[in-house]
Amino acid sequence: MFSNIDINKMNRLMEENREAKQIISQLLENHHTSVSMIAHEIRNPLTLVSSSLQVIEAQHPEVKEFNNWEQMMEDVRFMCSLLNELSSFNKSSTLHHSVFSIERLLKNVAVSFAISLDADNSDVQFTSRIVPGMGDFTGDKIKLEEVLLNLLRNAREAVGENGRISLTAERRGDTIVIQCQDNGCGIPEELTATIFDPFVTYKENGTGLGLSSSKQTVEAHGGTIQVQCSPETGTVFTVTLPV
Ligand SMILES: Nc1ncnc2c1ncn2[C@@H]1O[C@H](COP(=O)(O)OP(=O)(O)OP(=O)(O)O)[C@@H](O)[C@H]1O
Ligand SMILES: [Mg+2]
Repeated sequence: MFSNIDINKMNRLMEENREAKQIISQLLENHHTSVSMIAHEIRNPLTLVSSSLQVIEAQHPEVKEFNNWEQMMEDVRFMCSLLNELSSFNKSSTLHHSVFSIERLLKNVAVSFAISLDADNSDVQFTSRIVPGMGDFTGDKIKLEEVLLNLLRNAREAVGENGRISLTAERRGDTIVIQCQDNGCGIPEELTATIFDPFVTYKENGTGLGLSSSKQTVEAHGGTIQVQCSPETGTVFTVTLPV
């Protein structure tokens, strides 16, 4: 994928050469269209899976008693909404506001993440502390869930043996403060300034879009996202969201 240098080169080329600007803009537009089309194609069969699960649930209500059934249904609904979002990728900076319990959202994400670790027989230790009393929150539920999943996925990709990840959240005055902490490989100080830029990745198969889209979402909610890294605390991403 693109590195930070490539992006800078691309921007310079676009500034210097009108023809290059036209071609690059066209390529980016094609890229957006491809993403929308792929998302659309995946959404169709996923909608069928979702409908079948609903039929199973209606015909065999006892399935609800299975461990993780509710969570799985919630995750399928999330994937459908996510693909909906991606299929309108060109409008990805638009927020779709609703009023919801951010506490419930955080708890759901924590449970899904814990289940995914279990499913992989991972020995990563995951803890979460979601302090009750956060009240109603107005914002884009799907995009905020994506932010949390991006941070947790990065943490998971960063930790090795004896990995520890924690997700904490509480309300401080008129702000929700969410922290995702891990004891993984850490981030060299000189890189912390650029990891929020699009297409900056240090992973073989990374796209480098996780943190940049997370930053875009958080800032669109009037919030901030920051990273701190030290041998004592490990890597801590802090998201603040005004209520
Ligand atoms: N918890 C973390 N610990 C160590 N490094 C991290 C952590 N989170 C992010 N990074 C660094 O920041 C870079 C950018 O992260 P980002 O999520 O934007 O992209 P990515 O994870 O590389 O790819 P993608 O998320 O698109 O699959 C990563 O490649 C990694 O080097
Ligand atoms: Mg990532």
